[in-house]
Amino acid sequence: MSTPRFQLWSSVGKKLLTGITGLALMGFIVTHLVGNLNLFVGSEAFNGYTEALHQLGGLLVVAELGLAGLFLLHAVSAILVWRDNSGARSVQNTVVASKGSPSKQTVFSQSMIVTGSVLLVFVVLHVAQFRFGIFGGLDYTTTLDGKEVRDLYRLVVETFKNPAWVVVYVGVMVLLGGHLRHGFWSAFQSVGLLDPMLRPLAYSAGAVFAVAIAVGFLVMPIYLFLFA
Ligand code: HEM
Repeated sequence: MSTPRFQLWSSVGKKLLTGITGLALMGFIVTHLVGNLNLFVGSEAFNGYTEALHQLGGLLVVAELGLAGLFLLHAVSAILVWRDNSGARSVQNTVVASKGSPSKQTVFSQSMIVTGSVLLVFVVLHVAQFRFGIFGGLDYTTTLDGKEVRDLYRLVVETFKNPAWVVVYVGVMVLLGGHLRHGFWSAFQSVGLLDPMLRPLAYSAGAVFAVAIAVGFLVMPIYLFLFA
């Protein structure tokens, strides 16, 4: 009955797409976290890092468009999977939810659509704020090795000198941790890389990964607020 085109949007296909894009986004988040560690080193290190990215020119634009596409695909496929699951209760999810500690598992998995939606709004706001300077700071420049470059360090520090932004970012990073807590092992399972025997290990690895990413990001605004 179903046509090949319809098969692409089967529930397995949508889960696969959510998993693949989720894994790719996790790769971006780790890279972004590592790059942002330059904030702890200081203005020259951070501006040098962002300037090196901007030197990529057209390649950076292609990467940014690809990244935007990944976020969009991930959101759309995840919403479609969530819609399917809320229409017809997934047997698989019921089995997973009854393993290990049931209440925690249910809280993280059931809040994916909420944490994901908040994160999507955050990413749009965040890119507008730092990449495009919609709240100001687009014209900040400094001299690095005798060359005039964008002073993103100043923009980031000024942003986090405002306690309201610190609260917003810390709150969002806690939600990011919650999203990754479930998303980590779920993504591996969706792409078929999770042997049932390894599931307990994947739960623990997911918890460690989620905490490391959330804490890594949320100490940045707090550190800059207190010490920069
Ligand atoms: C305290 C935490 C964070 C800080 C200080 C921070 C800082 C920045 C800065 C300064 C930029 C602009 C880079 C440039 O123009 O070269 C940027 C871009 C971006 N950030 Fe973050 N970020 C943080 C957390 C996050 C998180 C958690 C996500 C995703 C969930 C994220 C996603 C992005 C994206 C998608 C871009 C655009 C990349 C590009 O256009 O090259 N950021 N961030």
